[in-house]
Amino acid sequence: MSVLEKINSAEAIALEDKHGAHNYHPLPVVLCKGEGVFVWDVEGKKYYDFLSAYSAVNQGHCHPKIVNAMIEQAQTLTLTSRAFYNDKLGAYEKFVTGYFGFDKVLPMNTGAEAVETALKLCRKWAYEKRGIPENQAQIIVCENNFHGRTTTIISFSNDENARKNFGPYTEGFIRIPYDDIAALENALKSNKNIAGFLVEPIQGEAGVYVPAEGYLAKAKELCEAHNTLFIADEVQTGIARTGKLLAVQHENVQPDILILGKALSGGAYPVSAVLANDAIMNVIKPGQHGSTFGGNPVAAAVAIAALTVVEEEQLAVNAEKLGALFRAKMNDYIAGSSICTLVRGKGLLNAIVINDTEESDTAWNICMALRDNGLLAKPTHGNIIRFAPPLVMNEEQLLDCVGIITTTLKQFEK
Ligand SMILES: Cc1ncc(COP(=O)(O)O)c(C=O)c1O
Repeated sequence: MSVLEKINSAEAIALEDKHGAHNYHPLPVVLCKGEGVFVWDVEGKKYYDFLSAYSAVNQGHCHPKIVNAMIEQAQTLTLTSRAFYNDKLGAYEKFVTGYFGFDKVLPMNTGAEAVETALKLCRKWAYEKRGIPENQAQIIVCENNFHGRTTTIISFSNDENARKNFGPYTEGFIRIPYDDIAALENALKSNKNIAGFLVEPIQGEAGVYVPAEGYLAKAKELCEAHNTLFIADEVQTGIARTGKLLAVQHENVQPDILILGKALSGGAYPVSAVLANDAIMNVIKPGQHGSTFGGNPVAAAVAIAALTVVEEEQLAVNAEKLGALFRAKMNDYIAGSSICTLVRGKGLLNAIVINDTEESDTAWNICMALRDNGLLAKPTHGNIIRFAPPLVMNEEQLLDCVGIITTTLKQFEK
């Protein structure tokens, strides 16, 4: 069989199962087309996408402006490497730094690479600007963090599944409870070599945990007081998802280092970025960091288009409005429900908690039933289902989705 032949769901799943590494456990649905808030499977069934590729497709599937920018650039120049200049990178760097209010950007491709970049940048700054003795720098991270899959990043994870048998681990990290200002203060006070605090403004993978109001602002204040860099990983929360351009903006915080990925390209292409001001970014000199694809002209053109769409279509405002409506409607349902105990989130990054044990397969079964009813979502951890539709959704579509979700939950009420 030619790999380009049209195949049905069972065949596509069998191919992945036989020839691909089993590092994911996908919901059994095989998609072949996407447009806006919808995706279609190979049998032609249409679904609402309520995951948006883990918040990468904030601008909706195949947004014409983003796709056209990509095609146009791909037909002109795709990659030069950074051995030479290209005519798109500088324009993009000016655009993206102006957009987020930083002096400089370091372009990468994936979220994990951008996190690695931020960690390297923080350490180098610590030795060269803070005067921390060589190899002594520590970075504070939070329990239940998710920052990607590289060896260093999983070294400071406490998810056994992500860590086990991947050691030896990278040193230099101190883990404290999330949303715990006293723990942060203690950690900062008890070690004079703390270079940075790496935090997700909302813990997405862990199950959409929103910290108490004031946590991020207070954490930034403490970091400033201890001359420690506040590093915000907004790979999942950033770019309008939570109802503001950045989730830290809910508390008027400007991070020292900002990490972006996913929706920076609207899901069209792997584009990530680390942003910081000169006093920090200028510690990186030629040869000290890089990536063959980072900052390529296609990525630059795609990212400009993706960020332009966010602004033109007021996606943050829409996420704020529809998110509030979603939680209100879900709370109405939860008031009389025994299967669903809670909805939480900000903007259009939300999760519901299913009334069963973490080990149960109830949340998975609910996602299978949602699929059958025309909506795609996936459990994050155990009994938690994350809901993150594209931000181009309209009110009518959102209410339709609430209808599908509540009808499906009813099938599981005892
Ligand atoms: C907060 C956060 N950081 C980093 C990453 C890693 O991004 P990537 O999968 O592009 O490496 C993710 C992915 O889900 C994430 O949610």
